[in-house]
Amino acid sequence: MRLQERVAFVTGGGSGIGQAICRLFAAEGASVVTVDRYLERAQATAAQIEAAGGRALALYADVAQPDSVSAAAQTAQERLGPVDILVNNAAIAEGDDILTIDEATWDLNLAVALKSVYLCSRALLPGMLARRRGAIVNIASVNGLTGIGEEPYSAAKAGVINLTKNLAVRYGSQGVRANVICPGTIQTPIWQSRLDIDPTVFDRLAKWYPLGRVGQPDDVAKAALFLASDDAAWITGAVLNVDGGLMAGSYRMARDLAAAEG
Ligand SMILES: NC(=O)c1ccc[n+]([C@@H]2O[C@H](COP(=O)([O-])OP(=O)(O)OC[C@H]3O[C@@H](n4cnc5c(N)ncnc54)[C@H](O)[C@@H]3O)[C@@H](O)[C@H]2O)c1
Repeated sequence: MRLQERVAFVTGGGSGIGQAICRLFAAEGASVVTVDRYLERAQATAAQIEAAGGRALALYADVAQPDSVSAAAQTAQERLGPVDILVNNAAIAEGDDILTIDEATWDLNLAVALKSVYLCSRALLPGMLARRRGAIVNIASVNGLTGIGEEPYSAAKAGVINLTKNLAVRYGSQGVRANVICPGTIQTPIWQSRLDIDPTVFDRLAKWYPLGRVGQPDDVAKAALFLASDDAAWITGAVLNVDGGLMAGSYRMARDLAAAEG
């Protein structure tokens, strides 16, 4: 068990990648705080963990709201003890071309995907620094690395990558590591609205990927486990693409996007 006697705080733990991370971390011995804007989703994840013999606490928080984050961080520490691992996973992806979105859409993407990393790190870092022990794993996206649309989301994810590097540099000497994962397409509920329009979307996108398929939540969870565990004791500030090779060479994606532009 790679996370025995660790407490992990995972945002967006009620669905998709966050849920897979919660389950895997619990299976590796961690006590998991699963945090979500929809408490019933967090509770469903916690119930799965408990049914498998693990330890979990479901909490409500809107990660874009400072008071909500502070309250969840405080409750988590009161109930389970000091937090060793923070996974900043919650995000939304809304809107595209900056000439077609409104300011509220821009602000919301930035708040949920980027400001949340500031708020949750601010809430939990002091405890990690006091114990000189902590691992932060941020979930960004390949969208943060290159221009493939979804501008507000992508800009937020680029910010997450840079913020991770700064956390790594600033706090490394005090025992806290920070790394960031950039997933490619992962089959989760975040895709539901696009799936409703095009039921073949994953088959179509799979062709962009050198490994010939889109990803599954566990593909990301396994990478997060590695970065959160002592196996990554000398890794900080790393940007780990979990993307089936997409960022190694994406000419198929570029060709399709160019064709769609006409
Ligand atoms: N699925 C993909 O293709 C993909 C690709 C790259 C990166 N990612 C990233 O992975 C992470 C997880 O995505 P997913 O696909 O599992 O999404 P998802 O929609 O399945 O799950 C996201 C969870 O976050 C919660 N959430 C949303 N806003 C919140 C808020 N303000 N406060 C608290 N919780 C909130 C939702 O309720 C949901 O349970 C996100 O950061 C996403 O950007 C996903």
